[in-house]
Amino acid sequence: MKMGSGLLLSSLLAALLLHHSSGFWIINVVFPPAAKTRAPSNSTPPLIIVPGNLGNRLEAKIDKPTLVHWLCYKKTENWFPLWIDLNMLMPIGLDCWIDNIKLVYNRTSRRSSNSPGVQVRVPGFGQTYPIEFLDNNQLAGYFHTMVQHLVNAGYVRNETVRGAPYDWRLAPNENAEYFTKLQDMVEEMYNQYQQPIYLLGHSMGCHYVLYFLNHQPQEWKNKYIRGFISLGSPWGGAVKTLGVMASGENDGIPMISKIKVREEQRKMTTNPWMLPFEDAWPKDHVFISTPNFNYTHRDYQRFFKDISFEDGWYMWQDTKNLTAALQPPGVEVWCMYGVGLPTTVTYVYDEEFPNGDPVDFVYGDGDDTVDSMSMGLCKRWVGQQKKPVHVTEYRGLAHLDMVFHEEVLNQIQQILEGKPDTPKEIDVRLSTK
Ligand SMILES: *[C@@H]1O[C@H](CO)[C@@H](O)[C@H](O)[C@H]1NC(C)=O
Ligand SMILES: *[C@@H]1O[C@H](CO)[C@@H](O)[C@H](O)[C@H]1NC(C)=O
Ligand SMILES: *[C@@H]1O[C@H](CO)[C@@H](O)[C@H](O)[C@H]1NC(C)=O
Ligand SMILES: *[C@@H]1O[C@H](CO)[C@@H](O)[C@H](O)[C@H]1NC(C)=O
Repeated sequence: MKMGSGLLLSSLLAALLLHHSSGFWIINVVFPPAAKTRAPSNSTPPLIIVPGNLGNRLEAKIDKPTLVHWLCYKKTENWFPLWIDLNMLMPIGLDCWIDNIKLVYNRTSRRSSNSPGVQVRVPGFGQTYPIEFLDNNQLAGYFHTMVQHLVNAGYVRNETVRGAPYDWRLAPNENAEYFTKLQDMVEEMYNQYQQPIYLLGHSMGCHYVLYFLNHQPQEWKNKYIRGFISLGSPWGGAVKTLGVMASGENDGIPMISKIKVREEQRKMTTNPWMLPFEDAWPKDHVFISTPNFNYTHRDYQRFFKDISFEDGWYMWQDTKNLTAALQPPGVEVWCMYGVGLPTTVTYVYDEEFPNGDPVDFVYGDGDDTVDSMSMGLCKRWVGQQKKPVHVTEYRGLAHLDMVFHEEVLNQIQQILEGKPDTPKEIDVRLSTK
């Protein structure tokens, strides 16, 4: 926190430009693509966007009893950015940051709390800025391109298009207040515009939307919700969470030590929640292979023990039933996801497991982050609910690109304009962009 921000910015840029990988856990997009200008539409039904994991800003205020390093701040008068905090890219900054953002899990109460002396808040509920860019300098763009595209078509930020950010470190069982706020916002927008609302989720945000809809009476949904647009949702969980919890993930940013950042990644209850779901995989599918043991779905308890993270087993128990049954949402659904890219379905480690990187990978089909079997589970809703379910696969489209790509934005525009029928497959490798 006490380091010069010019240096930080340039090192951030250098790191990101050197390695532009599309991340699930760290959103590392600099300079998102600009939205094309388009003819305004006279159909702008109200829309609420629910971002994915790590997909909105968080702020903190601290007054800490102890410090992990003397260079870290002990006390702040004001709220400051916790996510994204560019200081995390500095060696000591990363230690300070982890100590601020990590959660402390209590196995007795089965609850998580902030690190001692740290308050965390989610800024800008109902507005779009906390999901458009994740940092004050507007470098890490997330939903900016999509929101600008909508605005070009006639939407108004904070009015007809709004964001519903949340504390993505926590699974829905520890975020009850969020769902009340979301319900209030839906009702408020409905009253204001006299039209039902579209909900749009990306990645883990889709599970948040599903959980919300699963807990609303059908009459409420019939009245208030026009539809649910789901982008790249890991409906059957994501194998990547196992790799993240085992050995950490820096998404190729060399300044971030994987073993250090693993400490924070393990403390988010959303990671155990997103472990591959039982129904979604063959019983004998090996997710993690080591010289000593092959871990399948039945071996999660042993997995957590072997990686010395037994709290994870309790967190998984607390969260595994939240959305794993994939109870139909009960509203019209557009389920869109990328396919056709190699995606890890098994991580292979050597003796250094879990403290070394995987030495090999087994690939399946997916969007480079989540496998298509998991994302395609929304197909089972066809016939399970009265409302239509539309599924579109985007061949060649990566997980994060789902929120930027012209083809996806055009499709969303069509849906919002009341043309619900969508193609089963769109090959983005053939499009100009
Ligand atoms: C954990 O929760 C239990 C039960 O609510 C409580 O009695 C205990 O003090 C908590 N432990 C810590 C370290 O806060
Ligand atoms: C949306 O709200 C944010 C935060 O209050 C504000 O900075 C921004 O100007 C607003 N955007 C519009 C278009 O009103
Ligand atoms: C794990 O599975 C691989 C591939 O099937 C097999 O070659 C290996 O012997 C197994 N290892 C253990 C420890 O069971
Ligand atoms: C979770 O679901 C399983 C099977 O559906 C059930 O046996 C178990 O009791 C549930 N656990 C909790 C904590 O609700």
